[in-house]
Amino acid sequence: MAEPDGPAAGAGRRLATAPRVITVPKELRQLTAGWTGSGQLVGLVPTMGSLHAGHMSLVAAAQRECDKVVVSIFVNPLQFAKGEDYLSYPRRLDADLALLAEQGVDACYCPQVETVYPEGFATRVLVDAGSELWESAMRPGHFSGVATVVSKLFAAAGPGRAYFGEKDAQQAAVVSRLAKDLDLGVEVSVCPTVRDPDGLALSSRNQLLSAAGYRAARCLSRALIEAARRFAAGVVSGAELSAAAAQVIDSEPGVRFDYAGVVDPADFRPVIEANGETRVLVAAGVEGVHLIDTSLLASPPRASR
Ligand code: PAJ
Repeated sequence: MAEPDGPAAGAGRRLATAPRVITVPKELRQLTAGWTGSGQLVGLVPTMGSLHAGHMSLVAAAQRECDKVVVSIFVNPLQFAKGEDYLSYPRRLDADLALLAEQGVDACYCPQVETVYPEGFATRVLVDAGSELWESAMRPGHFSGVATVVSKLFAAAGPGRAYFGEKDAQQAAVVSRLAKDLDLGVEVSVCPTVRDPDGLALSSRNQLLSAAGYRAARCLSRALIEAARRFAAGVVSGAELSAAAAQVIDSEPGVRFDYAGVVDPADFRPVIEANGETRVLVAAGVEGVHLIDTSLLASPPRASR
């Protein structure tokens, strides 16, 4: 008979055991060094909390592939520019910990801002590629903030693997580059985007939207679908495909169009001619909330209604 916390327990759920909650890097290093020392593979899922099914899909992938799983929850001030939503970013640590307990996560690292960035902190990690493109251009300094905190999380958790979402494809590319360039010994795994039944990519920021804003935000995935539809119909011009995606977003009332790019997945540069590997990137402001989405032209989101 299957173990109660085995696959038969359904939906990948394990028995509820609270994860060990850790707030200082030294303690996390000790814990994971013990696991690694006994030959166990440690998986890390970095998050900013307000966990949803997208985050939990990364956790589930880590649990499938690793012996121990650490989830970090830290709203990282360094990756928010002045005037962005650092203060209003949704935070709900208790609910997150309950979810992680239900999922049987081994440890949760949730340090204070002063622990991660104490008085005198002066180091920035800069991945020097594509800094004029898309999210990098819209949010100067953002990816340096991400690369800095991810470096610190890798140093504290010492994972063999770390899990990131395809939704933030540029971020995943920055982190992969970072791990490779600095020989961090971390294998970066990129997991598919989890969407609501209408195709909207799940995001902690969706909680900041009204019901009308939530409906309007669906124009992002519809833009990806439209570009893919034209590609399937034989259009290969990158300019034409990105214009088609832009048009869907632009014609949604109350939505600010930010960008639509049809890009080479290797360097995120716009392509002249699209092929099956080409990626579409879209971004928009909905009720002042910055939302992004992406998919390959060849495998667009599927809305079930
Ligand atoms: P956060 O937005 O909380 O996302 C944490 C991870 O979950 C990221 O790798 C993100 O790509 C992934 N994710 C978010 N929505 C998803 C969805 N709908 N489906 C699948 N995966 C999804 O990204 C960050 O935090 C931060 O920048 C961080 C990497 C933690 C550094 O501070």
